[in-house]
Amino acid sequence: MKQIYVIGIGAGDPGQLTLQAVEALGRTEVFFLLDKGEEKADLAGLRELILRRHATGPHRVVTARDPDRDRAAPSAAYAPAVDDWRRRRADVYERLIAEELPDGGHGAFLVWGDPALYDSTLGILGEVHARGTEDFAWSVVPGVSSVSSLAAKHRVGLNQVGRPVQITTGRRLADQGLPDGVDDVVVMLDARQAFGAFTGQGLHIYWGAYLGTPDEILLAGPLDDALAGRIRAVRAEARARKGWIMDTYLLRRTDEG
Ligand SMILES: C[S@@+](CC[C@H](N)C(=O)[O-])C[C@H]1O[C@@H](n2cnc3c(N)ncnc32)[C@H](O)[C@@H]1O
Repeated sequence: MKQIYVIGIGAGDPGQLTLQAVEALGRTEVFFLLDKGEEKADLAGLRELILRRHATGPHRVVTARDPDRDRAAPSAAYAPAVDDWRRRRADVYERLIAEELPDGGHGAFLVWGDPALYDSTLGILGEVHARGTEDFAWSVVPGVSSVSSLAAKHRVGLNQVGRPVQITTGRRLADQGLPDGVDDVVVMLDARQAFGAFTGQGLHIYWGAYLGTPDEILLAGPLDDALAGRIRAVRAEARARKGWIMDTYLLRRTDEG
């Protein structure tokens, strides 16, 4: 039987790799890398470093092109376009497992942060497994997510005592506002800087970019126009300098406002 690992590699700091991840990396004979066509050299560099240090057994790296999504599809065609994209991705993963991994071998997909958070690898592998065309066992090695990293760097918890916390995207926050009954919202994938619409509402923001990397930037404080403007300016400068940015933030409503 083939064994597939989905390994969370942390969100930027090679020191975030767990001992469980190190063991799985050492056992892996074939690493599957999905090229999304937009990968940043820094991120690829971190993965190479991890493999150099921890892929201690005889192994090879197989790269495949991750199919592009048709983002230009009109809204009526949106759902079919996403279904088609998922199917094409599952086809690629299925082929990799069928053709590149010998029976009894260990293969691995490396996932940024924690595979359980805003990543499609688990969904796609589940789909391939359900097809039943390839016989393989698969397991997940959790990783340190950018959300854990953000909380640690700001030395705050994600929730207040006995209260819920919600993790969402910048797009949903911009479209739907702050969810009812939730005092803490973690926002990811926010190209629009949705926090700008929530100034002067008694919120506190804990913002972090390039967490865990040498370029890490942290800003925090009551979310007023001045701080929102400062985050926007710092973000724009860093993005222009490096050519890419990944940032995450926690919006917190407190009794003090
Ligand atoms: C596709 S999601 C992947 C999340 C990942 N699975 C995790 O556990 O962090 C990408 C988003 O994660 C956040 N992110 C990932 N790495 C980050 C980092 N090093 N610093 C800040 N935000 C990060 C950003 O919000 C980015 O838009």
